[in-house]
Amino acid sequence: MKVLVTGGCGFLGSHVCEFYIKKGAQVIAYDNMTKHELERTGFAAEEARNYNWNFLKNLGVKMVKADVRNLQELLDNATGCNYIIHTAAQPAMTISWENPELDITTNVMGTFNVLEIARKLKIPVAACATIHIYGNKINDSLKEGKKRYIHKPEGISEDYPTLQGTLTPLHASKAAGDTYMKVYIDTYKLEAASFRLTGIYGTRQFGGEDHGWVANFAIRSVIDWPLTIFGTGKQVRDIIYATDICDAFDAFYRTRVPGVYNIGGGRMTMISLLDCIDILEKINNKRPEFKFEPQRHGDLSYFVCDISRAKKYLKWEPKIKPEEGIKKLIDWIIENKSIFEKKGG
Ligand SMILES: NC(=O)c1ccc[n+]([C@@H]2O[C@H](COP(=O)([O-])OP(=O)(O)OC[C@H]3O[C@@H](n4cnc5c(N)ncnc54)[C@H](O)[C@@H]3O)[C@@H](O)[C@H]2O)c1
Repeated sequence: MKVLVTGGCGFLGSHVCEFYIKKGAQVIAYDNMTKHELERTGFAAEEARNYNWNFLKNLGVKMVKADVRNLQELLDNATGCNYIIHTAAQPAMTISWENPELDITTNVMGTFNVLEIARKLKIPVAACATIHIYGNKINDSLKEGKKRYIHKPEGISEDYPTLQGTLTPLHASKAAGDTYMKVYIDTYKLEAASFRLTGIYGTRQFGGEDHGWVANFAIRSVIDWPLTIFGTGKQVRDIIYATDICDAFDAFYRTRVPGVYNIGGGRMTMISLLDCIDILEKINNKRPEFKFEPQRHGDLSYFVCDISRAKKYLKWEPKIKPEEGIKKLIDWIIENKSIFEKKGG
């Protein structure tokens, strides 16, 4: 088996590459090594940027520095592969409104190119959408509990209307990518799956304040930088550990039921930002310092995936609970503390 992973040097992509190389597949990590987000984290950006590249190279992954917006280069690299997993993206809402052109070209044209290539080569493809494509009108129907917002029903399915509420360029670009996935399934009978992913976390995630809040909180809690909570802290996600998503990609390769899937931890992993701070306090034996700032434009206060569809058709379900996953993340951060501490906070 030969797998092309776009965004292979990103957080999730690096886990997908590791997963398949350890299964004995040939793996290509295709990544343009953008630093847009890392440069804003306050961590040692260059070292952080090279970390996943070096990690994967040592495992025997073929490394290609190239852009998903370059159709020909993508085609040359995908030729001979049996599966494309598309994780490359501009994933941050904040960057999307600061640089909408970067956002649309990366997320829309990038996904379109991947689909065209999968169509030409007649190979299955799975891509990363996000639960943000549902929009944030959900915020209007929440009750406020002591530590969490509450929504009934708890789980939200793929039938929920998309793009409701106040939108940002990221909503549009990720929803367009997700729509194109469906277009290629319906029109060209492509074996494709669009995963509408909830908040992901895990090792090799250099989460700043733009995206990847679990990692950002965990990193700051270890290096003693104060955490910023945008909003009340009662925002809820069914956070999912990266390797659980690798299992879902592989489940799609085996089952090949095309479509869109909500992929998250479901009710088993739903936590609020305040709950996450409690978990960090337990693991670190120290309560992290935190401050509040107003909620940001476009923010979504609640999402828990109803994962029934993925369970039924992909025969997949998540395994890792927040306490276990966050402990692994903290151990990795401690091992690599110097990368995070190098610059000022
Ligand atoms: N992290 C989360 O919590 C989360 C939640 C929902 C959805 N997602 C989606 O999952 C996917 C992976 O997210 P992540 O957190 O691993 O992001 P990431 O930023 O860590 O990784 C993305 C990778 O894509 C690469 N990339 C960006 N533009 C590229 C281009 N034009 N050509 C080639 N490579 C390019 C980057 O260099 C980076 O290595 C994204 O599609 C994201 O929208 C992530």
